[in-house]
Amino acid sequence: MKGLILSGGKGTRLYPLTYTRAKQLIPVANKPVLIRVIETIREAGVTEIGIVIGQTGPEIRETVGDGSRYGVHIEYIEQNSPDGLAHAVKISREFLGDDSFVMFLGDNVIQGGISKLIADFAASDWNSQIVLKVVENPSAFGVAKLRDDNSIEYLIEKPKNPPSNLALVGIYMFDHHVFEAVDAIQPSQRGELEITDAIQWLVDHGYRVMPHVHQGWWIDTGKPIDMLEANSCVLDEITPSIAPDAIIENSEVDRRVTIEAGARIINSIVRGPTIIGEGVLIENSYVGPYTSIYHHVAVQQCEIERSIVLENSRLSDIDVRLHDSLIGRNTSVQRKQTKPRSITLNLGDYSNVWMT
Ligand code: DAU
Repeated sequence: MKGLILSGGKGTRLYPLTYTRAKQLIPVANKPVLIRVIETIREAGVTEIGIVIGQTGPEIRETVGDGSRYGVHIEYIEQNSPDGLAHAVKISREFLGDDSFVMFLGDNVIQGGISKLIADFAASDWNSQIVLKVVENPSAFGVAKLRDDNSIEYLIEKPKNPPSNLALVGIYMFDHHVFEAVDAIQPSQRGELEITDAIQWLVDHGYRVMPHVHQGWWIDTGKPIDMLEANSCVLDEITPSIAPDAIIENSEVDRRVTIEAGARIINSIVRGPTIIGEGVLIENSYVGPYTSIYHHVAVQQCEIERSIVLENSRLSDIDVRLHDSLIGRNTSVQRKQTKPRSITLNLGDYSNVWMT
């Protein structure tokens, strides 16, 4: 069994963070989503992994390397333009050969791993296994309509009038017959070769496609709100730890807080579940639940909760509590010390600011 991770695409819904960074590299609980995907696949016993990359390929190669750091072997497959998930399968033919494989979208985070799914698929004579999840907004996803006996009646990509509330999760298992399907289908209205159409082709041609309805949480981190939600879900499951060289002075740090190497918490309150990254300084501040502060950030005289702050940023002397915020790398948010009292903004393209 091999693994195929899709990490191309543009990530426009996560602008401005994804202007300068691949969306799959944005960290959730201080670990890039793509690394979480690699670890999930490795934990299921699959170590030969291909990663489909697009224009953000160089940064992904630099972060993941040959995979040895994560106990896997990585090969990169270049996709010239994001022509669809089935197109990504098509161009991975040489890497996959005739092996069965698990395809995992590089921006999906799932509770509980995929070991059982992989074991079930490996022990079966199914040609494909798909994962479904009951969701409130099926129109945003591929949707499956099942029959009473749990077999697939049909699948449809992002329907206006969804026939069910069962969304296709971005985890799929296939044997080599999927190559017949991806060769046979035509681009959809949005101009992409859809994996949903390829699976429908397998169903229509008598191949055995088994649906599995996932019971835990699953998040497609496509939008900022999804990143915050994924961050909360993962933080809830982390076993907290405090690095031996972390400094905690005159502060209240509850037991669901993880503090990484070299971080300093001075005169502050930190409530978990929360993660404070390597080399971070928290001073005279409040950091509330469901917050991830990535490495080398300084938070001074501020209050922040349910937020993600990326590396090397600085928040200081802000007199309102930051909430539900996604703050990019090397960013500075600070109170102006000079009169008149006013707000000065220096924002990148596609930034958002909400003021009270
Ligand atoms: O997340 C689950 C959903 O993923 C499914 O319910 C849908 O059926 C499926 O089509 C897909 O929908 P999205 O619109 O969310 O896919 P997106 O364009 O965001 O791409 C998913 C991942 O695949 C992302 O990490 C980028 C990568 N990708 C995407 C395309 C279109 C590629 O590597 N190559 C591509 O050509």
